[in-house]
Amino acid sequence: MKVLMINGSPHKEGCTNRALTEVAGALNQEGIETEVIHIGNKAIHGCIACGKCAETGRCVFQDDPVNEILDKMEEADGLIVGSPVYYASANGSLFALLDRLFFAGRDFAFKPGAAVASARRAGTTATLDALNKYFTIAQMPVVSSNYWNMVHGRDAADVEQDLEGLQIMRVLGKNMAWLLKCLEAGKNAGISLPAQEEKAWTNFVR
Ligand SMILES: Cc1cc2nc3c(=O)[nH]c(=O)nc-3n(C[C@H](O)[C@H](O)[C@H](O)COP(=O)(O)O)c2cc1C
Repeated sequence: MKVLMINGSPHKEGCTNRALTEVAGALNQEGIETEVIHIGNKAIHGCIACGKCAETGRCVFQDDPVNEILDKMEEADGLIVGSPVYYASANGSLFALLDRLFFAGRDFAFKPGAAVASARRAGTTATLDALNKYFTIAQMPVVSSNYWNMVHGRDAADVEQDLEGLQIMRVLGKNMAWLLKCLEAGKNAGISLPAQEEKAWTNFVR
C-alpha cells in the first residue's frame, strides 16, 4: 500500500517537510510505502473553470505537478497534504493546486486523507479546517491524531524541538496505517465500497 504526500511549502527541506517525514517514518514502519511531492517555488495556476477536466480527467495546465499527482492517485491508497500557514490559512500556491487537483480528480473517494499544518505561531486550526474540506467533499475518510495535526517552527530545526508536534505526526502515521489495513481487510472479506448514487446537482433551492 502507498500513501502520497504533498508538501505545499516552497521549502523542500522546511518545517512542513520535517512534519511529513515524521508521518512517513511511522507509515513506513507499518509497511506502508510513501512518496512526497514538493509543489516547489514556481507559479501555480489557479483553476480557470474551463471544464476540460470533466472530459479528460486531467488539467489543461501542464507546467506544475497537478497531472502528475492525478496519475499517482490512481495507484495511491491514501493522501496527506501538508501546508505552511500563510496569514492563518494554507499557502496560496497549494490552494491553487488543490482546487485543480480535486476538480479534476476521480480517484479520491474512500481513500483516507489527512492534512498537516506548520506555523511559526498561529493559524494552524483554520488551515486544517480549509484543507480538510477537500477530503470531505470527495468522500475521503479523514484521519486524525492525538491532537490537531500541527507542528510549530520557522525552520526544520525549530520543528525538531517540537516534541509534541512530532509525536502528533507519528501517531497520525500509525493511525493512517491502521485505517488502511482495516480497509484492506474489509475488501478481502468481501465488503464492497458503498454503491454510488448519480450525483444530484441542485444549484439553488427555492
Ligand atoms: C507569507 C507568509 C505568511 C505567514 N503567515 C503566518 C501565519 O499566519 N501564522 C504563523 O504562525 N506563521 C506564518 N508564517 C510562517 C510560516 O507558516 C512558518 O514559518 C512555517 O512553519 C514554514 O513552513 P515551511 O518551512 O514548510 O515553509 C508565514 C510565512 C509566510 C512566508
